[in-house]
Amino acid sequence: MKRNACTACHAATHKIVGPAFQEIARKHAERKDLVEYLAARIRSGGQGVWGAIAMPSQTLTEDDARSIARWIASGAK
Ligand code: HEC
Repeated sequence: MKRNACTACHAATHKIVGPAFQEIARKHAERKDLVEYLAARIRSGGQGVWGAIAMPSQTLTEDDARSIARWIASGAK
């Protein structure tokens, strides 16, 4: 996460530029495809789910995106 500079905009427990990872896990807790969804969102970036500020698309591998997505999906502890 540090290597990919996610932590410039995100923290586990509080909002920075982007939402807290624990908030993200709570917001989407109902999704059955949560890991898929988050991994795709991490790579594509986007806006409008949390507000007007956009997240730029991120250049990390599919594998890295998935492991981060799994960590968020499991509650970002
Ligand atoms: C320049 C700041 C910035 C960086 C760097 C950044 N994000 Fe984000 N991120 C945001 C913002 C802003 C949002 C909210 C976008 C929205 O409202 O849809 C967001 C949203 C998200 C979401 C939630 C998407 C959703 O649909 O709820 C996830 C997951 C996420 N970021 C993960 C990451 C990861 C992992 C990285 C590093 C690879 C990263 N972000 C890097 C700013 C950033």
